Amino acid sequence: MPGELLRDRGLTLLRAHVKNQNLLKHSLAVEALMKALARKFSENEELWGLAGLVHDLDWEETQNDFERHSLVAAEILEKEGFPAEVVKAVKIHNYVHGLTPETPLEKALYATEEITGLIAAAVLVLPSRKIVDLKPESVLNRMKEKAFARGVNRDIINLTPSFLGISVAELTEIALGAMREIHEELGL
Ligand SMILES: [Fe+2]
Repeated sequence: MPGELLRDRGLTLLRAHVKNQNLLKHSLAVEALMKALARKFSENEELWGLAGLVHDLDWEETQNDFERHSLVAAEILEKEGFPAEVVKAVKIHNYVHGLTPETPLEKALYATEEITGLIAAAVLVLPSRKIVDLKPESVLNRMKEKAFARGVNRDIINLTPSFLGISVAELTEIALGAMREIHEELGL
């Protein structure tokens, strides 16, 4: 499956399973971030982007059972014939399973995807509600503010330096840049 076709299939599958607009936006944000990280590390942009795009595919059907989240998605992706490395990265990304991310793709998805949620939340409390006005320093301050966007797991994001060899500040710059590029789709 060549890159563009693979992405189309991922998006079609995602739209078939996810109806919540915020979750679709989250998926696009993580896709953009994963592609940017792949570029940074000279990895496969299509595969990394795809993993980001489909990682929460089963969120709506597992919302009352977090223990099944990501396992169901991995089953669906496997059945649909998506690349094995993407299936595995998606499966591992839910930390409740206690599976250890090993490949760079697995580590990147595991550690970084939640920062997109922190960034989106930080944009929405700006007077302009525009991502162009959000500064990386503000994101880092929000990271430290535990009560802000409580659902965002800081401990996982803080694995980034040991997993990927970049600081959280650098990750923030990359994520902010990637999300700014698709700000219209994200409505930010
Ligand atoms: Fe996610």
